[in-house]
Amino acid sequence: MKPLFIFIVLFSVPALAVDYKKDVLPIMKQHCFDCHAGGKAKGNLDLENLDEMRDYQVGKFNIIRPGNPEESSFLEKMHLPESDRDFMPRKGSKLPDRELETIAKWIKEGAVIDAANPAEKEQEWVKNGGSETGAAMAVPNREFHQWTSSDGKMIEARFLGLQGEAAKLLMKNGKSYTVLFSRLSAESVAQAKKMAGQ
Ligand code: HEC
Repeated sequence: MKPLFIFIVLFSVPALAVDYKKDVLPIMKQHCFDCHAGGKAKGNLDLENLDEMRDYQVGKFNIIRPGNPEESSFLEKMHLPESDRDFMPRKGSKLPDRELETIAKWIKEGAVIDAANPAEKEQEWVKNGGSETGAAMAVPNREFHQWTSSDGKMIEARFLGLQGEAAKLLMKNGKSYTVLFSRLSAESVAQAKKMAGQ
């Protein structure tokens, strides 16, 4: 089952790909451009500038994390209650589910900005099934592993990446945590570094 699945993902994504320019940009234009386009872009987020989006907003530690809609603060803000101070579009109303799903799908598939003209790193992400991690890491990282804390507690979580001297872990309930190395056992620190390719 697994090899077949990988095969389908590898060879079907380019044809199916949702991209920013064609699918997400029109949604942004309708709901976000009042505050996030051109010179007046709030929060340094210019949703109209494709190069800036690709270079600064999409990446492993950015607001849009290829392959990880649930880890992308960009999408999270649109899912908050409208009364939340971080909710986007600010002062507006929640986007229709269909549009939120399109955005989630776009991020899941690798958050490619322009499918007709993909950058090298974007091609890698798509090839890895949307994941921002290296090809060798893509499969093990999608599995749950055991981790022990420095005081001996055991959890099961998926490894999302390193953040300085800390590991980002995703629990089965969908919550993610940044766990400092000092809070993890030596074995778990070694495991995290190995998974990150260090
Ligand atoms: C009425 C103005 C307004 C609208 C409309 C708006 N925003 Fe914002 N947005 C802001 C302001 C102001 C900030 C920066 C200050 C802050 O974060 O409180 C911001 C910040 C953000 C950030 C954080 C940027 C970062 O790097 O931390 C994201 C992501 C964001 N907006 C997404 C959106 C999206 C997506 C939409 C459309 C669905 C949207 N915004 C619509 C005003 C707006």
